[in-house]
Amino acid sequence: SAVAGVGMVLPAQQLASALSDDPPVVTPFSVPLPIPPVLRPVTSSRSADHYEMVVTPATARIFPGLDTRVLTFNGSFPGPTIRSRRGRAAVVKVTNKMSTPAAVHLHGANVAPESDGHPLDTIDPGASRLYHYPNSQPAATLWYHDHAHHVEAEQVYRGLTGAYIISDSETDALRLPSGEFDIPLVIRDAQFDGDGQLVWKLDDFANRKTVLVNGAIQPTHKVKRRKYRLRLINAANSRPLRLALNPASDVIQIASDGGLLGRPVTRPEVELWPAERAEIVIDFSKFPSGTNVILENTFNGPETPGRQLLRFEVTGSVVADDSVVPAKLRDLEDLGTPTVTRRIVLARDPTNTFYAIDGKAYDPKRIDLTVKRGTTELWEVVNDDGQYNFPHSIHLHLVQFRVLERAGQPVGEWEAYPKDTARVPAGQTVKILVKFDSEFTGVYPFHCHFFDHSSMAMMANMQVLP
Ligand code: C2O
Ligand code: CU
Repeated sequence: SAVAGVGMVLPAQQLASALSDDPPVVTPFSVPLPIPPVLRPVTSSRSADHYEMVVTPATARIFPGLDTRVLTFNGSFPGPTIRSRRGRAAVVKVTNKMSTPAAVHLHGANVAPESDGHPLDTIDPGASRLYHYPNSQPAATLWYHDHAHHVEAEQVYRGLTGAYIISDSETDALRLPSGEFDIPLVIRDAQFDGDGQLVWKLDDFANRKTVLVNGAIQPTHKVKRRKYRLRLINAANSRPLRLALNPASDVIQIASDGGLLGRPVTRPEVELWPAERAEIVIDFSKFPSGTNVILENTFNGPETPGRQLLRFEVTGSVVADDSVVPAKLRDLEDLGTPTVTRRIVLARDPTNTFYAIDGKAYDPKRIDLTVKRGTTELWEVVNDDGQYNFPHSIHLHLVQFRVLERAGQPVGEWEAYPKDTARVPAGQTVKILVKFDSEFTGVYPFHCHFFDHSSMAMMANMQVLP
């Protein structure tokens, strides 16, 4: 505990309370992996599915015998999964039963500004509103989360996240693993007190040492000896993940933030910073029955807090598996040649009191830059916090972009396209190619997706002009 400094002698009582601040113990791999419920439409019309969600305080069973107070969509921690089809709209009515404003943002989605969950465009306590998601984009693993001005870091931390999956017939035709073999994994960290309650402190990444997968601590999942498709979502406020299997074994990455890659890429590990997603296929038929395969976060080496995230228990004999990972997944769009180049600087402000973009604190009413619909821009995103060693990232609402290079080196194809969030490590510059190819125009935020930073002003507004 932080109070027990080296060589410091504590009175017995103080020591006892310092010890009781440690969270209750969960026996590793004793809890089955929860799969968030799939939200059912309330009604369906020819062209749209209508859903209802309530944003409400609730409790979650994270520690045996204890109720942890959390914020939820529909009482679920994390929120229910919404499964949509390309070409079929989803209309989600959200009612806010919290005592604070809420804004729901569908991260990675092509949506009109009035359904984008802009930080000031909130649902007041007791009120409801409709969000309209056209689902006109290719199949992808998206996620929804709170975005209310200045409080999104806390409200997301307390639980306001969920997976949102778009499927389409082109992707179905590939015959990737599906049904019970297609599993979303929403990964985030937290700090808990001795009573199993969430401890919230802005920008306190170092103390969030417990990592949850679909709301559970070190869960376990029995798998058959066949291929599985895992949709990995880093829903942590600030924790980077470098995901690898133990025993070491390659995974096949098939998708990035905004959907399928051009072709599958075989990789020993997958790095995801907050808000990034990847879809991977693991073929468990290569492991003998009885093998325990652990999904680990190796980002900080052997000492990574909560390093062992999830256990797969490989069982039985090899089963019939008609799923495939084709050598080609899809044709990727050409984003064209940039007509505008911009430099965007992410750094603490000069007085070192907040996180800034281009030296300015976020003003949700200010337009920081304008872009023209249909054009392609090159953004050079500079992390100028080398002296503090602060990592940042860049997330744009509305569009998927291509990451060209980081620190002068081209990035791997697995993190090039389609991306909506790119990591920008301390002192490095990342170049991204953005085509504003959406049919929508209006004001959309862009920001660092470490929520601890965006809630402390590292956000800006762009206006997409017709
Ligand atoms: Cu997931 Cu504006 O963010
Ligand atoms: Cu940041």
